Amino acid sequence: MPFALTAEREKQVEALLTRYPNARAALIPVLWVCQRQHGWISPAVRDWVAQRLDLSTATVTGVVTFYTMFFDKPVGEHVIWVCRTLSCDLRGGKAIQEHLEQRLGCHAGGTSTDGKFTLMKAECLAACGQAPMVQIDDDYHENLTLEGLDQILDSVGAAPAEEA
Ligand code: FES
Repeated sequence: MPFALTAEREKQVEALLTRYPNARAALIPVLWVCQRQHGWISPAVRDWVAQRLDLSTATVTGVVTFYTMFFDKPVGEHVIWVCRTLSCDLRGGKAIQEHLEQRLGCHAGGTSTDGKFTLMKAECLAACGQAPMVQIDDDYHENLTLEGLDQILDSVGAAPAEEA
C-alpha cells in the first residue's frame, strides 16, 4: 500500500526543507516525521521519502538501518529501551531488563502479545549519573527500582504484573 503523509505532516516536511541547504540534509528529520505518523519506516515509507527528497532508495535505507532510532520493522504502540551499558548494569540494569521481560511477556527485541510494547536493549543513553534507567518513547525514567518501574509500567497501561 503506498504511503502518504497527512496534510499537516506534509506541511512539516515543507518547513523542514526550507531549513536545510539541500534535500539530503533533511533526510533524518523527514524520516522522523514519517515514523511519527506510521510508527516505523516500512518499504513504502522509504520509497516515498526517496521520491520526495529525490534520493535513491538505497540512500534512505542506509540511513534507516544505521540509526537505532528508526524502526525497520513494525513496533508496539510504545517502545521501551532498557540501557545495558556499564553504569546501568552496575546498578541493576540486568534485573531491570529481566523484570521488563517478565512483565511484558517478551524478550528484548520482541513485542508484547497485546502489541502494546516493544522492548529493546540500548547502549548508553547518556544518563549514566542516574543509572539504572529506561527510555519509554520520548521520556527518560531514571534511578529506577523494580517497584518504581512497576509504577511507570502501570501508568503506561502495561498488563498488571500477575497477568503478565
Ligand atoms: S550506562 Fe546507562 S545511561 Fe549510560
